[in-house]
Amino acid sequence: MSVVILDFGSQYTHLIARRLRELNTFSAVVSGDAPLAEIERYRPQALILSGSPASIFERGAPRPQPEVLRCGLPMLGICYGMHCLTEALGGAFVHGDRREDGRATVFHTRGPLFRGLPESMPVWMSHADAVKELPSGWQTAASSTDCPIAAAHTADGRLAGVQFHPEVTHTPHGTAILRNFLDMAGVERAWTPSNILDTLVDQVRTKVVTNRVLLGLSGGVDSTTLAALLAHAGVDHHAVFVDHGLLRAGERRQVESAMHTQGVSLVTVDAQKLFLNRLKGITDPEDKRRAIGAAFVEVFEQEALRRGPFDFLAQGTLYPDVIESAGAKGAANIKSHHNVGGLPERLGFELLEPFRFLFKDEVRELGRCLGLPDELRLRHPFPGPGLAVRILGEVTPERLDILRRADAQFIDALREHGLYSQVWQALAVLTPVRSTGVSGDGRTYGHVIALRAVTSSDGMTADWAQLPQEFLDHVAGRIIRRVPEVGRVVYDITSKPPATIEWE
Ligand code: XMP
Repeated sequence: MSVVILDFGSQYTHLIARRLRELNTFSAVVSGDAPLAEIERYRPQALILSGSPASIFERGAPRPQPEVLRCGLPMLGICYGMHCLTEALGGAFVHGDRREDGRATVFHTRGPLFRGLPESMPVWMSHADAVKELPSGWQTAASSTDCPIAAAHTADGRLAGVQFHPEVTHTPHGTAILRNFLDMAGVERAWTPSNILDTLVDQVRTKVVTNRVLLGLSGGVDSTTLAALLAHAGVDHHAVFVDHGLLRAGERRQVESAMHTQGVSLVTVDAQKLFLNRLKGITDPEDKRRAIGAAFVEVFEQEALRRGPFDFLAQGTLYPDVIESAGAKGAANIKSHHNVGGLPERLGFELLEPFRFLFKDEVRELGRCLGLPDELRLRHPFPGPGLAVRILGEVTPERLDILRRADAQFIDALREHGLYSQVWQALAVLTPVRSTGVSGDGRTYGHVIALRAVTSSDGMTADWAQLPQEFLDHVAGRIIRRVPEVGRVVYDITSKPPATIEWE
């Protein structure tokens, strides 16, 4: 049972999915023009039509399939989604020549969408067009100064639309509005960590039956939890941890001992030389990812030949990876995040990706149900290509060593000051810049290290973390003292968007 979100390309679509998960409702995002058969695979109890950068007045703007609009499920349209929904039923619109972007207040709120909520409330608007006339049988449920029909629904409440964005935090009552919609639509709210665990165990057992699984373990939260899930489900698997030489200080030892404690039998492949050779002379970030992906394929291929045969390759792919790499139609591919691209096709593996519909915090909760210790479960995310995407320019053993030591100082200091768990991710970057300094009576010309820490709920958007100034001061001094090759430390104060979390 689920809610299916039809994605028309809004930058906020994944937030709708997140809010619904927070309301214990499973949600899946499909393309806005997905056929009914694809939507029905998720056995939805309701649909949500997302916003869009497009306008319904534009030729060729995306639309839901007519069969979807006629399917009889309860639907909520958000912004452009509201326009699509009411257009199909005979509504009329004004084509705004000026966008309304930002905070607004809706008033005269009434009806089931606003049950239990104040009569007026702040909301986040981001639109140019608006509904001018509602289809017959619809009634207005809220207005704002610039938008007389800011929310509306049919008399039975099965179809509804809001001009504003309930999914963003700038609409403080947004989650309550979504909850009211779920209630109006009679959607079940049973998506809890223990149910997720039972569902995944069933899925994995049904899919794998008596076959063997090869699991690539990075030591991060996702693959570690996946190893624990496979062990819990009693699935026959072979866990391989590739030391590509791009790990953080002490990471290999940490992963090995943690997995040992969890009862996962792990084989570590030391492939440091292979990866460093493949990275020689490469400076472009996507070329680095490709070279690393190809080296992973090689290692897994050898491992499969040595210990196989295997039928499945298990990966800890998460929902944001799926959304970011598939994206809405026309969305740009910013980074290729896939871990072991190309391998399944070459070796005839089937992919086993039990977490491909989960967000990171859901995986962490699952880890808790599986008994993973907090130090593993709550670790910051770490990218598959490791420190290679935190070294701008060529990756060499010397540069890796400098970055590794600087990073360890930053992370240790965060832990010591009780700040580690307050940020989503923290990292050091080795920039390609050298800079003049002074030490004693002499001139120095050291490396520049950039520190980055962000807060986020899923890594898809992020704010730079406002770490205390005294802490930053302490870390800068500590890095310069303990990593003599570094002459300057800077702190990155860019959010995502426009910057990504990693520098490459
Ligand atoms: P960005 O830099 O895209 O990162 O804002 C979002 C999250 O994804 C991680 N990341 C990667 N993970 N392979 C991975 O497995 C990659 O190539 C990759 N690039 C970024 C990043 O650490 C952050 O958590």
